[in-house]
Amino acid sequence: MGERLGSNFIKLIMRINFIDAGVDDIDCMINMIKSEPGIFKNNPYNLDKTKDPWIWISDKLVTFKLILIDKAVCGFFIARHINANSHLHGFFIKKSFRNKGLGKMLIFEFLKSAFKINPNIQTLTLHVYSTNINAIKFYKKYNFREIEQTNDLIFDSGGYGSWARNCSIKGRWPLNDGVMLFGIGSIKAMSMIKR
Ligand SMILES: CC(C)(COP(=O)(O)OP(=O)(O)OC[C@H]1O[C@@H](n2cnc3c(N)ncnc32)[C@H](O)[C@@H]1OP(=O)(O)O)[C@@H](O)C(=O)NCCC(=O)NCCS
Repeated sequence: MGERLGSNFIKLIMRINFIDAGVDDIDCMINMIKSEPGIFKNNPYNLDKTKDPWIWISDKLVTFKLILIDKAVCGFFIARHINANSHLHGFFIKKSFRNKGLGKMLIFEFLKSAFKINPNIQTLTLHVYSTNINAIKFYKKYNFREIEQTNDLIFDSGGYGSWARNCSIKGRWPLNDGVMLFGIGSIKAMSMIKR
């Protein structure tokens, strides 16, 4: 990535900040999602701030983080840390800021924040629509792999099991048609952020 952008990259990285999002930032995040209606078309909850994930904004086990260049918000992620798993509920870089390495920085920030909140985490997961080819390629690049949504997973004692049970309790296991579960183990994730 450094070679790709050369000295411009160095200039850019010096101006990049991550900050925790607050209630006042919810509209900004929702508007980002609204600007590309095709991506999350099957999930209206993403646009309703009286529903999750937005109502979790003050929950200590949920991280809402913005990525900024100077004071301009370029993207965000939302992650929920429950039991041995951290789940990425939302991940977005504004269209005009893509392909500049910001998504990479944001995914590393997610990994770091998950270990900070729970050093004993075993897995990190996310859901992605099978039609979202761009995001799938991106997550695969950072070693996330598709996890099969089997009934056995509900009985798994590790992080994937705890996520499958969380979905199952809500009547969402297996996930809706066309929704893939991706995950990465903590050892692999830790080796990436230590590099
Ligand atoms: C997926 C997304 C976060 C990528 O963000 P980004 O800032 O463009 O990604 P980066 O510039 O940091 O790219 C990092 C690496 O991923 C690769 N990558 C990014 N998008 C890619 C794509 N569509 N296809 C293949 N590789 C891709 C880049 O080539 C780069 O690799 P390199 O450093 O070897 O060149 C962004 O496209 C996005 O926000 N999409 C819309 C929202 C969305 O789909 N979110 C996921 C919901 S589950």
